Amino acid sequence: MATCSTDQLERFMKTYDRKIKRLLELPTGTKLSWEYSAQGGRTGEGLWTLRCYAHTHEPIAQFTIQQMLGCCGVCISTAARVYAPYTKRGLGTLLNEMRLGMAKRLGYGVMMCTDVSTSLGTKKILAANGWTTVWQFRNPRTGRTVIMSIRDLADIDCSDVPNVAASWPAELAEAAR
Ligand SMILES: CC(C)(COP(=O)(O)OP(=O)(O)OC[C@H]1O[C@@H](n2cnc3c(N)ncnc32)[C@H](O)[C@@H]1OP(=O)(O)O)[C@@H](O)C(=O)NCCC(=O)NCCS
Repeated sequence: MATCSTDQLERFMKTYDRKIKRLLELPTGTKLSWEYSAQGGRTGEGLWTLRCYAHTHEPIAQFTIQQMLGCCGVCISTAARVYAPYTKRGLGTLLNEMRLGMAKRLGYGVMMCTDVSTSLGTKKILAANGWTTVWQFRNPRTGRTVIMSIRDLADIDCSDVPNVAASWPAELAEAAR
């Protein structure tokens, strides 16, 4: 996966650095590091993965935004995770806000996700942040109950999100303006 690095993205991450340090009550001098990968190319291939690490290199959290195959207006939020011992301090909620803003800025109209019915933390985050459950089914591959949810991005304010699409192909950057 190609690694991209833009000034805008760096500044955006720094904003979230501050918020995360506040939430986790880390000393102000603590250095977090982000690993981000973006795959652009043609419409239909959009993929962003962000991972945040503590100064000790232990992972704190991560998420991936992937464009849905066949519809460039929909993105999928996947692999969202907050690692122990950083859970239940508001980070899952903060990163949900972060990826909704990024998705809006990247030009998508809707974000979609699935979660297993036993994930109580995810359920709470989705319910409190404007997501709608659209379907529920038993996954024949795993036997688990899967919940499908969507978030309309129309009301998401992404004015404080820089154009993270800078390293994306021109047509996506255009859509994000
Ligand atoms: C689900 C997950 C992202 C939540 O992260 P988090 O940082 O703990 O989330 P928050 O601190 O913002 O918690 C949001 C709410 O959920 C609650 N919550 C979090 N984990 C919970 C749990 N295991 N059981 C019950 N409630 C939980 C919090 O108490 C909080 O409730 P409140 O709003 O009433 O205060 C994290 O637990 C995780 O990564 N889990 C494993 C992977 C996973 O399930 N990913 C989801 C993709 S399907």
